[in-house]
Amino acid sequence: MSTNNVILEVKNLKQFFRVDRKTTTRAVDDVSFKIFEGETFSVVGESGSGKSTLGRTLIRIYDGVAGEVEFMGKKISGKLDKETKHFITTNMQMIFQDPMASLNPRKKVLDTVAFGLDVNKLVSDPVERKNKVIEVLKSVGLSEDHINRFPHQFSGGQRQRIGVARALVLKPKFIIADEIISALDVSIQAQVINLMKKLQRELGLTYLFIAHDLSMVRYISDRVAVMHLGHIVEMGTVDDVYNHPMHPYTKSLLSAIPHPDPDSEKKRKRFVYDMSTIIYNDSHMVQLSDTHSILTTDKDFELWSKGDYSLSLK
Ligand SMILES: Nc1ncnc2c1ncn2[C@@H]1O[C@H](COP(=O)(O)OP(=O)(O)O)[C@@H](O)[C@H]1O
Ligand SMILES: [Mg+2]
Repeated sequence: MSTNNVILEVKNLKQFFRVDRKTTTRAVDDVSFKIFEGETFSVVGESGSGKSTLGRTLIRIYDGVAGEVEFMGKKISGKLDKETKHFITTNMQMIFQDPMASLNPRKKVLDTVAFGLDVNKLVSDPVERKNKVIEVLKSVGLSEDHINRFPHQFSGGQRQRIGVARALVLKPKFIIADEIISALDVSIQAQVINLMKKLQRELGLTYLFIAHDLSMVRYISDRVAVMHLGHIVEMGTVDDVYNHPMHPYTKSLLSAIPHPDPDSEKKRKRFVYDMSTIIYNDSHMVQLSDTHSILTTDKDFELWSKGDYSLSLK
């Protein structure tokens, strides 16, 4: 964390999807957190826990059914005027999991990357437009030669670099990266992560990093939020969450990570907890320290503080 300025503050955000007349999925259910300028804040959790919906609601792909979001001192929740929409697109960008699916196969890299400049009418001169694209391509490790090629002419890792370039061309302050390495070969994942870290240092970017790979998250994050069924159930620094987890959902996720060392891997014990015993409706956030909090009931908190996780086994 380079500073303690809050860049994004989310209060009681909710986003629900109507499945049919009787059923509603509470994809993001009363979530509150702050992100500091220059940090990497990661959101982890199993598939379906609401991570992507959270990202999409923040950047206003979805409108959200309740809650308040303040970004760089400006309210970006509720009804938006034209100026606020422009403020969001130029300062906040999202990068998606599957670069092939998010790139138009019939568009040259030049036009794909220039898209944000074009729709926001930020350049009028084609030479300036091309130069801006070349500059941003170089910053992600691609070159001028690439501008007239099409997505299928690139490898998966290169395509994700195009995705990063497209997000960066507007010089945003804040990037939501949704599982951006999940579709890539393991050998390429580290390259993309190192690129993201380099860009963060050079450009002073703030990241909301969405992932299900907990080992990678540990390596790149300052703070981590664990999501389960639309709720943030635990939040803290990497040290808080990885070395002192208290919520049983966090403990079970962490116990599922294989150890690189074969001897300790043999001794690894899975932490199993019957999550159906947890009633989130009755829960509230409890602060364990300045940086560390969990979602719990008074009763569970008393037990968990004593290291007693046996209740669910009855
Ligand atoms: N556009 C949508 N319409 C209806 N249900 C959705 C939609 N997007 C996500 N959901 C549901 O919301 C829940 C959270 O999904 P998602 O945010 O994609 O989770 P994650 O990214 O953690 O895998 C899931 O139950 C999913 O089926
Ligand atoms: Mg997702």
